[in-house]
Amino acid sequence: MVKPTLNFTDIFDGLWKDLVRGSRDRKSEYRWLNFSTTELSGRASIRTVVLREAIKNNRILRIFSDFRAKKVEQIKINPFVTAHFHDRRKGIQLRMLGTAYLANKELTHSHWIKLSEQQRKFYKILKGPGELYESDKENACYLEENAHKFCVIETKITEIDWLSLNNKEHLRVKFQCSNSDIKIERITP
Ligand SMILES: Cc1cc2nc3c(=O)[nH]c(=O)nc-3n(C[C@H](O)[C@H](O)[C@H](O)COP(=O)(O)O)c2cc1C
Repeated sequence: MVKPTLNFTDIFDGLWKDLVRGSRDRKSEYRWLNFSTTELSGRASIRTVVLREAIKNNRILRIFSDFRAKKVEQIKINPFVTAHFHDRRKGIQLRMLGTAYLANKELTHSHWIKLSEQQRKFYKILKGPGELYESDKENACYLEENAHKFCVIETKITEIDWLSLNNKEHLRVKFQCSNSDIKIERITP
């Protein structure tokens, strides 16, 4: 439970600690997030993804994707994204706004080599996410031996909207962290 006297540093450190744990622990409430991008029409495009890495010092979140997925196409045109987490146990919602881009080749490769054969298979399917199957009976075909469509999406977080709801208290804090100095504001929940 959140203490009545707000300690902003504790909240900031605590949320990043939860994210780091989430990227490593399948049982964590922070293991999955809703990752929101924008379609050309201006409509929101949201999907569930797994949090793969959270780096507090650089304010970076990393997720894995197929290079042919819509989110990749979308961030190239409009990099403004939102990562949404809901910790049901603690009654906390995190909305993290940021700028997304594809990680460089070295970093991508360093994650690729750590994937299991089973995980790699998902990124070697001939058809990209959302492509039509010719029939119900069509089986997945694979790309040639060393080819794959794996990529890593990094999001540089610029703003965090932290909301805590419990029976006694509703608290909301906004962290603006686009610069090295973090601007903190307590706002109405
Ligand atoms: C539990 C769960 C976890 C998922 N994790 C990922 C993930 O880590 N990365 C990913 O690209 N898609 C993941 N997906 C699939 C996405 O929700 C989505 O269908 C896919 O990324 C294609 O979306 P897009 O074309 O809009 O980018 C996951 C789906 C579920 C149900």
